[in-house]
Amino acid sequence: MLRKILPRSLFGRALLIVILPVILAQIVVGTVFYDSIWYKANRNLVRSLIGEINNFFAIYPEYQKIKKTDELIQIFQSKNQITINIKRNIKELPKNKEPGLEEFYDKLIITEFTKGFSHPFYQNTEIYNPSIQILVSFNNEILEFIVPKDKIRGTSAFVFLFWIVAPSLLFIFISILFLRNQIRPIIHLSEAAEKFGKGQYDHDFRSSGALEIRKATIEFEKMKRRILKHISQRTAMLSGISHDLKTPLTRMKLELELLGKDSKFQAVKEDIVEMEKMISEYLDFASNQYLQSIEKFNLIDLINNLVSKSFKKNITLKCQKNLIFSGRKNLIRRCIANIINNAQKYGTNVLINAKKTQKNIIITIDDNGPGIKNEQKEKVFRPFYRVDKSRNLNDANVGLGLSIVEDIVNSHGGIVKLLDNPKGKGLRVFLSFPQ
Ligand SMILES: Nc1ncnc2c1ncn2[C@@H]1O[C@H](COP(=O)(O)OP(=O)(O)OP(=O)(O)O)[C@@H](O)[C@H]1O
Ligand SMILES: [Mg+2]
Repeated sequence: MLRKILPRSLFGRALLIVILPVILAQIVVGTVFYDSIWYKANRNLVRSLIGEINNFFAIYPEYQKIKKTDELIQIFQSKNQITINIKRNIKELPKNKEPGLEEFYDKLIITEFTKGFSHPFYQNTEIYNPSIQILVSFNNEILEFIVPKDKIRGTSAFVFLFWIVAPSLLFIFISILFLRNQIRPIIHLSEAAEKFGKGQYDHDFRSSGALEIRKATIEFEKMKRRILKHISQRTAMLSGISHDLKTPLTRMKLELELLGKDSKFQAVKEDIVEMEKMISEYLDFASNQYLQSIEKFNLIDLINNLVSKSFKKNITLKCQKNLIFSGRKNLIRRCIANIINNAQKYGTNVLINAKKTQKNIIITIDDNGPGIKNEQKEKVFRPFYRVDKSRNLNDANVGLGLSIVEDIVNSHGGIVKLLDNPKGKGLRVFLSFPQ
């Protein structure tokens, strides 16, 4: 429950840690202030107003007797900033409205007047705003008192409130600036890790921020370099061996030729040809793998291009018009070409589907061939592994196709899965590339 409400980003959480205590402190200070200072100050002002009006009514009957009420009103008005009118046109006092929650002054006036004032009254804070109207019924007469709101409103309270809220807002603003700077290196680090996972190796970035983050960044860069070194060493070594094997193989071929056309040597000759193919296939793959840089291209154009070049026209495409892919174009072409090759080799109809989801590009390639048994599905990714060697004896197959596919997909941070064709017969190759 709490996890759902809490912000998910580090910045959001850090900000909450800073802001929450400030807000809590504000609430506590605000409540205490409201109760002990603001409310009481206003209440006392209303009470003193009641005192003034009470005083007026204490002597008013005397002046009524001598018919000099106007004089009294004059004196009272000049001393108290209150305007008094005798309302002969109003016969009956209206009823006080029930004040709403936000009508602080209405509530305060009604409560205090009910407690401390002995004559029937009516109050209205709207009609003469910013003054208050108080009607009092006294000896069959209705008197109107117009009181400026400032008389019952403690103005210093606003200044006080301002000085609690304004600095807190300033603190929050400063902490946002600081937090953003502190969190930026972590975001950069996670972006770098993501890029590395997607095979964008050329991205170098400087360590910055707090000591711990710098350390993590430096360690990450070291790890990245170690992995890259390891990969290139391995590739270089294998390429070296493969290359060196070419010479003795050529020699053996020559020697066999010299031995004549005896059918005894036919099998050995075939083996040598196959070994040559394996080697050149591997060398070809290893040579251009790391030379390419990441680029943006339209995947659909690439697939269409592959389809148009294929001499067997049994491919159906089900794609959107444009799908922008960011990766190593030649490798992606090779990856898809290998799968299409297999599908055409083992099946008669091929269906290609490509689409973009929120974060990935998904490509599925289905065929109606014999498919691959579940227990074989992992093994076919091994280099030089073929399910049934007799299936394609005279073919140019060496069993590197799917290993290359897996390698390319991994170097782009993607996933490759072999599934059964959902239509029943055949294989579905599922590719997913993060974008
Ligand atoms: N679409 C498919 N249907 C049935 N079997 C398949 C399919 N794709 C691959 N296989 C099986 O997986 C094995 C490995 O495939 P992979 O592409 O790695 O090698 P290959 O096609 O035999 O040779 P290469 O691709 O190097 O020319 C194949 O020999 C084949 O037995
Ligand atoms: Mg193949």
